[in-house]
Parts: sequence; structure tokens; C-alpha cells
Amino acid sequence: MRFSPAHSDAFQSATQEGDDKEGEGDSFGRELLAGLAGKPRSISPKFFYDAAGSRLFDAICELPEYYPTRTELSILADRAGEIAQQIGPDAEIIEFGAGSLRKVRLLLDALKTPRRFVPIDISGEHLAQAARSLRSDYPALDVQPLVADYTRPFSLPTRHDGGGMRVGFFPGSTLGNFTPEEALAFLQGAARVLRGGGLLLGVDLVKDPARLHAAYNDAQGITARFNLNLLARANAELGADFDLSAFTHTAFYNAPHQRIEMHLVSRASQTVNLLGERLHFAEAETIHTENSHKFTVEGLRTLAARAGFGIGPVWTDPERLFSVHWLPAAQ
Ligand code: AVI
Repeated sequence: MRFSPAHSDAFQSATQEGDDKEGEGDSFGRELLAGLAGKPRSISPKFFYDAAGSRLFDAICELPEYYPTRTELSILADRAGEIAQQIGPDAEIIEFGAGSLRKVRLLLDALKTPRRFVPIDISGEHLAQAARSLRSDYPALDVQPLVADYTRPFSLPTRHDGGGMRVGFFPGSTLGNFTPEEALAFLQGAARVLRGGGLLLGVDLVKDPARLHAAYNDAQGITARFNLNLLARANAELGADFDLSAFTHTAFYNAPHQRIEMHLVSRASQTVNLLGERLHFAEAETIHTENSHKFTVEGLRTLAARAGFGIGPVWTDPERLFSVHWLPAAQ
């Protein structure tokens, strides 16, 4: 699964050329120290998803304020027939992240004789579960899970020879958690490996900031727990001594950058021990933990075209909260 430049199905997103041999644990410590040493301090959102963080994210998806998951599901359910028409029979589906099986099932159920499903995820356990459940419900489908970090170089299995399209599926607006440079690099890599097929991409849309604010500041405080879990993870895995009650969750819409920003705010002047370093936090200093970019339909299409995709249909809900794009990739 290591990237090999000679491999025709190698996926490489150009901004991510790190050493892919490093374990996730090592990279958490190293990247955490580097991010917290920066000004402003930051932690990459990719570290949210340990077992506890993944459970909290699942709970977020069910919150009344967090509209993206249920809105995208409703678009996929309502438009599955039209989506299937774009894709045609005998498709090979590559899902970036083995996310909610509910979403890919809507797609598989609408497609004519889908041949192969390749979910790609960093968590082998999550993948194995997904593969088991799909194999038993779709016995004719060749399910080939791939344990990989799809933001780094990796190789796909050789194309399925069933004659259909190779289709990327990237739902959930995860693209919005990338920097603009990472998003472009990801899309460029996808356009290469999906040539002759296309990408089905779900992204959240710009909207009334009050609606966005509510989605990331839920009344039950689940998003706050999700954010603070980064510090709990550093304590559990790296022996750090973050006092979780001394940091508070904050999320706000940054309109010029069209993004929700999440931060953890230090409630007092304090010192934290992490991997032999003593980190001093001033009162009110923040750790930037996530950007969640929101898109206009035109903005997303311009980005996709820069990455080498053609422009296909876009489907939205009646309130235009969320969008699902079909982006054809030229041969
Ligand atoms: C996974 N990602 C698209 C979510 C988002 O909305 O940006 C992560 C999230 N962060 C806070 N709530 C949900």
C-alpha cells in the first residue's frame, strides 16, 4: 500500500509528502508539540477521531442543531436515481473514509450492478466492521477495504475489469476540514485516479451565520466535549497533564474565510507538561483546533475545475443548506 510513483493507481496529494511509515501515536506527539509551539497555537483536526472522539462525532451527527448529516442523507435518498444515471452500471466505488454506511448504501441500492466497493480509512477496526456488514447485505459486491490515510500517498487496487466507471465518494463535507491548498491537492489526486469516472462530493454551503453558529455550539455541549477530547487524548496517550476544566470550547463563523473556526480557550494563566516540555498558556490564549470551510456552489465548481474535474449536476435540499456534486473526471 505504499506509494510507488510507477503505480498507475497511486494516489498522491501534492502537499502531503511526509514519511508514511510513522505510526499514528508517534505522529500525534510530534505534531501536537509542533502545533502547540506555533503562534497561534493549533492542533490538527485529524486527531479528533480516536474511539471516544468518533463516538462523540456520531452523537454530533444526531444533534438537532447539526443539520449537515441528515440533510446530505435526504439529498442522497431523494436524488439517488439521478445520481445512478450519471454513474451507469458496473461501477467501482472508492469511499474516502469509511464513514456512515447509511450514505453508501443509498448509493449502492440505486446503482445498477455495482461491482466493487473500496472503503479507505485509517482505522482498520472501523473498516473491518463496515466490510462485514456490506458483504453480508450485498453478496455480489466485491468489498475490498483499504487501511490508509487518504490525505497521504497510497495505492489503489488495480481497476475492476467489469467495464463500469471508477467513482470516488467523499460525503460529509470532510473536504471543508482541509486547508484550501490541501483541498486542491486532494481533488487533483482524485481527478487522476478517477479518470474516466468521477467524484460524488458532499459539501456544506455558506448560509446564515446564526444557523452555522448553532450547529457548532449545540445546547447539549456535545461539540464542546468533542473539542476537549483532544486534550483528554493527549493526557491518555502521551501522559500530558491538561486540566480539561481550565479550557473552554469556542466556535464562531469567520465570514471573510467562509469557515467555522473551533478553538480551545485557556481560562487562566497555566502551565501544562507535555512530553518533557513545559507549555505556558496565558489567560484567554487559544488553541485553534478546526476549520470547517463552507462553500458556494460556484466556488466549489471553480475549485474542482482547477483540480482537473469537469462540471456535472449539483443537488441541494430545498433550504440550500448542503450540496452534493457530480464531478466527472476526463479520461
Ligand atoms: C467531519 N467534519 C465535516 C465535521 C464538520 O462539520 O466540519 C467535524 C465537526 N466539527 C464539529 N462538529 C462537527
